[in-house]
Amino acid sequence: MLWLKNAEVVDPAQDLLALSDILVKDGKILEISAFFSEETVRSRAGGEEIKIIDGRGRLLFPGLIDVHTHLREPGQEEKEDIASGAQAAVRGGFTSILAMANTKPVVDRRALVEFVIAQAKRAGLARVYPVAAVTKGMNGQELTEMIDLAQGGAVGFSDDGRGIQSAEVMRLALEYAKLTGLPLISHCEDDDLAGGGIVHKGLASARLGLKGIPSCSESIMVARDLMLAEETGGSLHLAHISCKQSVDLIRQAKQKGLNVTAEVNPHHLIFCDENITLTATSFKVNPPLRTADDREALLEALLDGTIDMLATDHAPHTWEEKTRPFAEAPFGINGLETSLAAVWQYLVTTGKLPVRRLTEAWSLAPARRFNLAGGSLKPGQAADMVLFDPDCSATIKAEDLASKSQNTPFLNQEFKGFPVMTWVGGCLVSQLTEKSGIMA
Ligand code: DOR
Repeated sequence: MLWLKNAEVVDPAQDLLALSDILVKDGKILEISAFFSEETVRSRAGGEEIKIIDGRGRLLFPGLIDVHTHLREPGQEEKEDIASGAQAAVRGGFTSILAMANTKPVVDRRALVEFVIAQAKRAGLARVYPVAAVTKGMNGQELTEMIDLAQGGAVGFSDDGRGIQSAEVMRLALEYAKLTGLPLISHCEDDDLAGGGIVHKGLASARLGLKGIPSCSESIMVARDLMLAEETGGSLHLAHISCKQSVDLIRQAKQKGLNVTAEVNPHHLIFCDENITLTATSFKVNPPLRTADDREALLEALLDGTIDMLATDHAPHTWEEKTRPFAEAPFGINGLETSLAAVWQYLVTTGKLPVRRLTEAWSLAPARRFNLAGGSLKPGQAADMVLFDPDCSATIKAEDLASKSQNTPFLNQEFKGFPVMTWVGGCLVSQLTEKSGIMA
């Protein structure tokens, strides 16, 4: 049995933000209280060995759940594989991650869904949930066998990486996804409007001499998908929302009571198009970093609940690919190991994002939306937990990353505030020690 003492527990599901003790037994939260006496703990242990961890000065969160990662297996294991991605996840404080379907081949068949689950089990670190493709080969035309994919273990459907251009395909997809009870995750991008652009269309594209991607390439698809969700009654989740126009549309849709949720990526909250230079290819992401005004609108939307959750869009790429000229490098930023520390540093310690909202948006909301284990530390729940040390300082170094890729803008940057211990189902799967760096 584990007795975790004196940590500041942040658990919005129980409306809890207080110094507490937690008892973990058989992989589950047994009890939580302001204080347990030794006698009580011994009686609860029933003869089992008791491991004590003093969490003084640290915070305990329900394990974070990232609904948007790219793990690249099968097919592009030089960028990442399921084991390296799962290890990066637990080091970064994530106990569950959703793996997108844009692998090679695309996860559009039940055998591939089952393959992802089997590889994740083999790695034995984070819980990895497959997201299956909406269309075969992500061709945007022919729907996958959604019911079969759901029965195989998919927790949602998405052609993420590509927008579904046909409104009729999207409408049908929402209808069929409804039969499975799973959300359809939309990558909102109109290809004609995006026009093969590289960065946000505006001052940045003019300054850098790069082709621009206008905000309406996203917001037009957000408007379309919201209307289709209303029409079909389907369950819609909007991935990586990046601009104010999309936020306004989502706010209106929620007022109408539509079955819609949305996510925002940390990089869209921390950076904007002004940060981009031609050598900073980690900032080449899709959707692109937009203006400072968009960034403020996204933060406001996260705070008022218009945007439900945070998600990394962890998109690993090789060093060779990301050191190409800006226009030729692939879109994507590495996020699993650095995002929590970055959000802490840029948004929590600056007073922009309360810690309660952080855990709600990165654990409780994803668990509820995708019907997953975890999300809270209530007795009976799986003991998926993260101990976070706000005083721990470390420099992000390429050689310390568990991810196979290093396409993060935070390399060689020092952060204060890191997850130091992560448990999945009561098992310690990652521990950061002062002397030896991260061990897992
Ligand atoms: O920046 C991105 N990278 N955005 C996406 O939508 C896809 C992702 C990838 O797979 O690399």
